[in-house]
Amino acid sequence: FNEEIKGLAAVSGVPLGNIYHARNLDFGLFMGWDRKTHTWTITEKLKPLVVNVDFKRNNKTVFKSTSFAGYVGMLTGIRPKEFTLTVNERFSVDGGYIGILEWILGQRDGMWMSFLTRRVLENATSYEDAKNELAQTKLLAPAYFILGGNQTGQGCVITRTRINTLDIWEIALKLGRWYVLETNYDHWEEPFFLDDRRTPAMKCMNKITQANITLQTIYDVLSTKPVLNKLTTYTSLMEVSTGKLESYIRACPNPCNPW
Ligand SMILES: *[C@@H]1O[C@H](CO)[C@@H](O)[C@H](O)[C@H]1NC(C)=O
Ligand SMILES: *[C@@H]1O[C@H](CO)[C@@H](O)[C@H](O)[C@H]1NC(C)=O
Ligand SMILES: *[C@@H]1O[C@H](CO)[C@@H](O)[C@H](O)[C@H]1NC(C)=O
Ligand SMILES: *[C@@H]1O[C@H](CO)[C@@H](O)[C@H](O)[C@H]1NC(C)=O
Repeated sequence: FNEEIKGLAAVSGVPLGNIYHARNLDFGLFMGWDRKTHTWTITEKLKPLVVNVDFKRNNKTVFKSTSFAGYVGMLTGIRPKEFTLTVNERFSVDGGYIGILEWILGQRDGMWMSFLTRRVLENATSYEDAKNELAQTKLLAPAYFILGGNQTGQGCVITRTRINTLDIWEIALKLGRWYVLETNYDHWEEPFFLDDRRTPAMKCMNKITQANITLQTIYDVLSTKPVLNKLTTYTSLMEVSTGKLESYIRACPNPCNPW
């Protein structure tokens, strides 16, 4: 049966394993803390601006995105049946701040990270195509690009400096690596001890097991503190095979970590 299923998958192009891609968007650290409500000022201001946008060409959806109203870059997006893409901040001496703060960055030689993601979502037509563009375009600041494809095993974290790509970390089912997970630290280094969201998130994933992974169980992982924290503005869940993009504006009830 196993061989037959693999054969059918190969011929029909329908992947053996569904590919999910999900994220929390955390933003607003150290940009003002409201002592009365115990919240981050910018984080709270962003929440009502969360919008889902369909980008169309000839009246047909090319890609969908969860964004902030008035922000033209893309931080979370899906090209139905082709690929899914999110961006994550990477702090580095060479980098400076990215994300919303790109707006106020000076003039440098390179591309605004979330404009690159927009261009990729607009014009790349496959996982490989997107991967090459994300790995090779010169940027203004370092970043992690998290990319999912439409075939079994297509999923990676691209670790970028402004100039080049340090590492592409891919799903490897044969090695038992059925997911890749990124929380703002290089995956080959330990996370900063005051901000370890990786260990709890991995603990949840491993407890769920590959067999039981669904958008619902992933939502549970992203709702577990401190993966969910006071910087979390929204949670997005994507399923490339159906083109589904669902986003939820979040709140983290006390007691809750500030980050
Ligand atoms: C675009 O599509 C929508 C619904 O899918 C339809 O109502 C509308 O008439 C279409 N517009 C044009 C210009 O074809
Ligand atoms: C995956 O994407 C490729 C490239 O866009 C496309 O040709 C193929 O039909 C897609 N496969 C599935 C199962 O959606
Ligand atoms: C995508 O490609 C089209 C056609 O080549 C081009 O006009 C457009 O500017 C590109 N979009 C972006 C965001 O670069
Ligand atoms: C997976 O889900 C099934 C059905 O909900 C449940 O019975 C089983 O205990 C779950 N397995 C794990 C490892 O959580």
